[in-house]
Formats: sequence, C-alpha cells, structure tokens
Amino acid sequence: MAQQPTSAPAGDSASPQKREHWSGQTAFILAAIGSAVGLGNIWRFPGEAYENGGGAFMVPYLIALLTAGIPILFLENAIGHRFRGSAPLAMRRVHRNAEGVGWFHVAICFVIGLYYTAVIAWSLSYFWFSFGLDYADDPAGFFFNDYLQLGSDVTLSAQIVPSVALPLILVWALTIGILALGIHKGVERLNVVGIPLLVVTFGILAFRALSLPGASDGIEALFTPDFSVLTDPEVWIAAYGQVFFSLSLAYGVMITYASYRRRRSNVTGPALVVAFGNSSFSLLAGLAVFATLGFLAQTQGVGVDELENITGVSLSFVTFPAVIAQMPGGQFFGALFFASLVLAGLTSLISVIQTISAAFQDKFGWNPRIAAVAVGLVSAVLSVLGFSTASGLYLLDTVDQWSNQLGIVAGAVGMIAAALWFGRRGHELERHLAAVSTIRPGRYWPVLINVIALLLIYMFVSKAVSLAIDGYGGYPTWYVVVFGWGTILFIGAAGVLMPWLRWHKDIAHPTLWPSREQLGLPAEVGAKVTEQYRPGKDTP
Ligand code: PHE
Repeated sequence: MAQQPTSAPAGDSASPQKREHWSGQTAFILAAIGSAVGLGNIWRFPGEAYENGGGAFMVPYLIALLTAGIPILFLENAIGHRFRGSAPLAMRRVHRNAEGVGWFHVAICFVIGLYYTAVIAWSLSYFWFSFGLDYADDPAGFFFNDYLQLGSDVTLSAQIVPSVALPLILVWALTIGILALGIHKGVERLNVVGIPLLVVTFGILAFRALSLPGASDGIEALFTPDFSVLTDPEVWIAAYGQVFFSLSLAYGVMITYASYRRRRSNVTGPALVVAFGNSSFSLLAGLAVFATLGFLAQTQGVGVDELENITGVSLSFVTFPAVIAQMPGGQFFGALFFASLVLAGLTSLISVIQTISAAFQDKFGWNPRIAAVAVGLVSAVLSVLGFSTASGLYLLDTVDQWSNQLGIVAGAVGMIAAALWFGRRGHELERHLAAVSTIRPGRYWPVLINVIALLLIYMFVSKAVSLAIDGYGGYPTWYVVVFGWGTILFIGAAGVLMPWLRWHKDIAHPTLWPSREQLGLPAEVGAKVTEQYRPGKDTP
C-alpha cells in the first residue's frame, strides 16, 4: 500500500533560488488554455473539419482527443510536475541521456516562434486597418500585393517590407517585456487578463456571425457528415495532428508550464479543463467561421462549397476582410476579429518563447530577464529578416510544414521513448499523478501511450515519405531541401549538440516528491539517477 505523501518539500534542492510559481490553479489553467487556444483553433480547426468529412470529422477528432490528446497532456504535466524543470532539465531527470529530446522541443519552439509572431504582426496591422476598412476594395490584392508585397517567384528576398517589419518588431518588444517580468508578473498576468477578454471578444463575434443571414447554410456545410472518410488514414492523421498542434503537445510547452505548479497541486483535473476548454473554443470558432462563410456565399449567390480561400492564412486575411467589408458595422466586427487573433496568438506565442527561455535559465543559470532579452533579441532579428521580406509567406509555409508535421511527431516519440521505454517511468508517473490528483489516470494509461507511440511512428514515416517523394506545395526542390529538410536538420542538431554544454550546477539530484517509497515503488530504481551520478566526472 502506498504511503500517503504528507508534507511537500518547499524548495528544490537543486536550485538555490526557488523555482517560480503560478499564483494558483486558476492562473495555471488560464495560462495553459492561453497556450492551447490560438490560431489553430480559429483558422485551422474549421478548415480541417470542413476538408475532412465535415460532421464526420468529429468522430476521429474526439477519438484523437480521448486516446492521444488527453493521455499525452497528462504525460507532459506529469513529467513537468514531478521533475520540475524546463523541457531539457525535466527530460534529463527522466533519463540521463534524454536531455536532447528536451532541446529538440526547444528548437521546434524557436522555429515556430519566428513565424508565429509574423502572423500576430499581420493581425495587429489588420486590426488597425479595420478602422478605415483599408482592405475593403480588393482584399486579396491588398493582402498579397499592397501589404505583404509578395514576390511572384519563390526566391529569397532581402527586401524588408516596413509595413510588416514594424508591427513585427512591436510584437517582439511586447513579448520580451512580458517574459522579462517572469512567470507570475508577466506570463500569468497576460493570460489572466487576455483569456477572459478573448472569450468576450470572440463571443460577441460568434453571436453576431450566427445572426447573419445565411449563417445556417454555412453551419450545415461544416457539419454535413461524410462518413466515407472514416476509412481514409489521411483523415485520421489530420485529426491526430490537429489535436497535437491545438493542445500544444510535444513542444515542451506543457512540461514547462507544469513545472511552475506547486508540488501539492491537482494535476489531472486542470489538464482535463484545459483539454475540453480548448475543444469548446474550437467548436465555437468553427460555428462562427462557417456562419460567416454562409453569409458570404449568400451575398455572392453561390453555395458554400463554391467559396475559395476558406482555410488558413487566406481565410483570415482575404476572405474575412471581404465579409467585413459587406457587413453592417464591419469596422467594429473587423476590429474585434483581428483583436481576437492578436490575443489568441500572443498568449500562445508567450508559451512558446517561455519554453525556450526556461531552458536557458535552467541550463546556464540566467535570470528570467536576461533569458527573455537574449532569446527574444536573437529571435526578433531572424524573424524580421526571414518573415518581413517579400518572400516571407513562402518561407512560413515551408518551415511550418516540416516543423509541425514532422518535427513534433518525432519529438513526441522521443519523449515517450525516454519516459516509458528507456527511463521505465510509466508506473512512477502514473503513481505520481494518482497521488497528487483527484482524477487518477489508471493502470492502462501507460499502455495507451505505448499504442499512441506506434501510431505516431506510422504517422512520421508516412509523412516523411510523402514529403520526400512528392515535395510540398509545388516549391522547387532546392527550396524544400534547404528550408524544409534544413529545418529538421537544425532541430536535430540542437538535440544532439546542446547536451554537450555544461549545466551551471549539479541538476542530477532532484528532490522528488512524493518520493518513490511514498509512491509504493522500490527505491533503488529511483536512486539510479543519483547512484550512477559520479560527481566531478559526470558534471557535464
Ligand atoms: N496551440 C496553439 C494553437 O492552436 C499553437 C501552439 C503550438 C502554441 C505549439 C504553442 C506551442 O494555435
């Protein structure tokens, strides 16, 4: 019988200065929802659902959420909460050779941060443009030619477009400022204010959308089920991919956020709130987006299925502006829509950059301010050079495809392999969650995760083969090799090289609470980390 853990050690023996903390459970939940709810909910979910069987997509989506989304969310929360560290530190404590998996996650965050900011910057500009409806006459021409000044071929351009660079610099300055204030005063405050505000702005928008003429046609188009898709593996891959991206899984984000929870915290309950809150927001966004598309189809006298540009970048920056221009009160609703994008995007972006910053804090002993400025400045320069030029959109598309479709799948498998296969911590993590939480994950939780890992390996191979053989988006081969495969090479190199650098202090002796004995597990396995540690020799 497992002993009930009694008192939690206050600090962390491995860190002289105490680890930062959320002020409480609500703050953590809001921050985690802030990370999850982002562009993925507003423009990715509705499009994926529509293209993959409409109402029938809800079946693979729900199954993906229950069989992979929630179990992996538990896993990341368990790793972060038990091993109390940024992705590299927590993974190093999970298994002494797994630090690289954490850096792999951090590198993906670094890549994503570079272009996620660009989309937030566009949204910020469009928020401003909404007051004068600058984009009303020719939304597509305005976006691609006037605003982005996109070149016609996929070449690298060194021509910086000031109208994009300026808001981009502003977004980076804001991000650095918030992160420099630390978890409690910066990240937490942004989310505690930003997420309720987002629910209000987007709620008003959804309410308005649903009352537009033609709204029901749009919703019907979204939800009309095509059950024949259920036999198509691509649809299932899309569902699992959507759940991972949307819940920010396998990016090291949830490990990092969970590491700032107090030791005595209910872990699984809040994770469920985050998962279902995020899906509810996706559903609301799906309704709002398709209600609006129904209205657009009606004004053009066509069917919803004849509309073009109803997913991704074009949905937000071409199609929506077209609708806004035709709507009574368009200025107001345009501003609300782009304000929602900025809020949803910023709270996700902060989690991505915090994951990087936390890793450098843990590894080199930097304080939050130095880490935020260092990470933020390097990223800002690269981001402005790469994404505010005339070729930014092509680069964004390519880098996104490789890092999000391939990179994170590998990152997820690496994490599971380290925790369950090599570190053999499945039982320990399960006991940990059961000891601190109200809802117990159950004995079958680690088993389920093993099955997901097999599925992920299949996803990885099939995606890698298709990208290698078919290329992507009609881009030239050299482009895809340099920026697509090059991105994977960069992420892999970070995973291999970063563990060679020294930790600023001995991190291999964490005080685990509840201890393995308290969890009813034999101590010697737990002591492996410390016993194999040879001071002097092993201090990297
Ligand atoms: N979950 C966010 C979204 O849906 C994106 C994101 C991915 C955020 C990875 C953090 C890390 O838009």
